[in-house]
Amino acid sequence: MNEPHSHLSFQDWMGQVQQRTEAALAEVLPEASIAPTRLHEAMRYAVLGGGKRVRPLLAHAAGELAAARPEHLDRVSCAVELIHAYSLVHDDMPCMDDDVLRRGKPTVHVEYDEATALLAGDALQTLAFQALADSSLGLAPATQLDMLSQLAIASGSRGMAGGQAIDLASVGLQLSRAELEFMHVHKTGALIRAAVLLGARAGAGLSADDLDRLDHYAKVIGLLFQVVDDILDAEADTATLGKTAGKDADNDKPTYVSLLGLTDARRLAEDMLADALQTLAPFGARATRLAQLADYIVHRAF
Ligand code: IPE
Ligand code: IPE
Ligand code: MG
Ligand code: MG
Ligand code: MG
Repeated sequence: MNEPHSHLSFQDWMGQVQQRTEAALAEVLPEASIAPTRLHEAMRYAVLGGGKRVRPLLAHAAGELAAARPEHLDRVSCAVELIHAYSLVHDDMPCMDDDVLRRGKPTVHVEYDEATALLAGDALQTLAFQALADSSLGLAPATQLDMLSQLAIASGSRGMAGGQAIDLASVGLQLSRAELEFMHVHKTGALIRAAVLLGARAGAGLSADDLDRLDHYAKVIGLLFQVVDDILDAEADTATLGKTAGKDADNDKPTYVSLLGLTDARRLAEDMLADALQTLAPFGARATRLAQLADYIVHRAF
């Protein structure tokens, strides 16, 4: 792997982006002391102090490639991570996956109550768009509008929410490989793809070829992320995951593990990783962080 621009190790770079993302999120979220305090507390509980921040890491990595300003990438990261956090709060509710543990803590509806979890999710979603729409971001207004539109599409019925609908409708069914891919590309892939593309959009215009390459990478790792999530659900333990292991089998969800078995699902993940890395090759050292992140997504422990 080529050397990145900065001489930080991948671990240190990750730590730095995670830290600045945490600070940016803490700033953009309303203080818990502001009324309605219970809702604001629940929103902060859902977002802060946990999570790998993979989507912010991808936004920063793609943004570095496009020479974007780190402050702009912080805002993009907040927007995407707020949508992600909202999706997790709702995903865990009894009407969806019915999970009691998330990021090593009780889920929001367990710690608070279902109505608060519902509203916290709603409010996190609108806060994401507020953060990206705010004129203080200081990008060209047309750019911000494009970004808002892209995030909305990735989050809505043609993206994450649509994928979640398919997920719920698929309980107890055996999906074909194409149907499973369609579900995963939407429920998880769309927002990950948006994280990469919005990060790049915050920077100088990339050439059409570069954008195509980046988009292919983003699509591959978006799907790959959920393939590995399926594998970890079957393979890892609850303490490591910070969420209940074995939930997919318990809930009778079709996954890459139920379709292919663990060995072939792992093999597929490695093949997809190779595809992602090959796509980045023409970027050379400029894409080192993106390559390191692809590798991390496949080989992470949780
Ligand atoms: C879990 O996402 C839900 C999926 C979309 C697979 P992450 O694995 O990114 O969760 P956190 O943010 O690190 O907790
Ligand atoms: C979640 O997929 C996708 C979302 C949009 C939240 P999962 O239901 O597999 O996520 P986990 O395993 O609960 O984190
Ligand atoms: Mg789910
Ligand atoms: Mg779930
Ligand atoms: Mg899962």
